[in-house]
Amino acid sequence: MNIEIRKLTPDLAEEYVHFFDVTPHDVNIDEYKCYCVTWRSDDSYTGNGDHWFPTREERRKRALQFVKTGSLQGYLAYHGDQIVGWCNANANCQWCIKYLRSFWPIEDYPANVKVKSIFCFVIAPEMQRKGIATQLVERVCKDAADEGFDFVEAYVNKEFGETDHDFRGPFAMYLKCGIEGNNRLIF
Ligand SMILES: CC(C)(COP(=O)(O)OP(=O)(O)OC[C@H]1O[C@@H](n2cnc3c(N)ncnc32)[C@H](O)[C@@H]1OP(=O)(O)O)[C@@H](O)C(=O)NCCC(=O)NCCS
Repeated sequence: MNIEIRKLTPDLAEEYVHFFDVTPHDVNIDEYKCYCVTWRSDDSYTGNGDHWFPTREERRKRALQFVKTGSLQGYLAYHGDQIVGWCNANANCQWCIKYLRSFWPIEDYPANVKVKSIFCFVIAPEMQRKGIATQLVERVCKDAADEGFDFVEAYVNKEFGETDHDFRGPFAMYLKCGIEGNNRLIF
C-alpha cells in the first residue's frame, strides 16, 4: 500500500481538523473528539485552565489556530489524497513531557540534549495493522536525526489494550523501530 508521510504545516490545518471530524477515535463519541489539542508547545499555554477545552467546537477551533501558528506539530499519513493517520511529535512541550514522564522514572536531561517527543497516534480503524504508525515513527526519527536531535523519546504503554493510553503506541511497535530501554529511539 502506498502511504505518503507529510509533516503537518499551517496550510494543512483544514485537512487536519477534517481528519478528526470524520475519523473514529478514542471512545468515538462525537462530543469527545480531541483534535489532539493537549500535546502542543509550551508557548501556546497562556495560563491555568487551557490544557483542555470543554467543548468539541472549541477544541476544533483551537486546533486550527495551533496548527496555523505551529504549536501543534507532527506528521500525517496520506493514502492518495486522504489522511489516514496522525502522529503528534513535538520538541517544545515541557508541560506534556513532565506529565508523561511521570509514568516512568525518566530523568531530566541537561539543556543541551535535544529531545523530540512522540505524544500520540490516531490511525483510521480500517487502516490499522498495515504498518502506518511504524512509518510515522520512522519519519519522526529520520527528520529528528536530520535536524540535529540527540534522540526521540516515546512514552510507551506496556499495558497496551488494557488502558485508555493506547494513543501512546504499543511497545511492540517501538521495539520494531529500535527502541532502547523503555523510551528512547536513537538513530
Ligand atoms: C495503536 C495504533 C497507533 C497502531 O497503529 P498501526 O498503524 O495499526 O500500527 P502498525 O501497523 O505500525 O503496528 C506495528 C506493530 O505494533 C503492534 N501493534 C499494533 N497494533 C496493535 C494492537 N492493536 N494490538 C497489539 N499489538 C499491536 C504489532 O506488533 C504491530 O506489528 P504487526 O502488525 O506486524 O504484528 C493504532 O491502532 C491506533 O491509532 N489506535 C488508536 C489509538 C487511540 O486511541 N488514539 C486516539 C487518542 S484520543
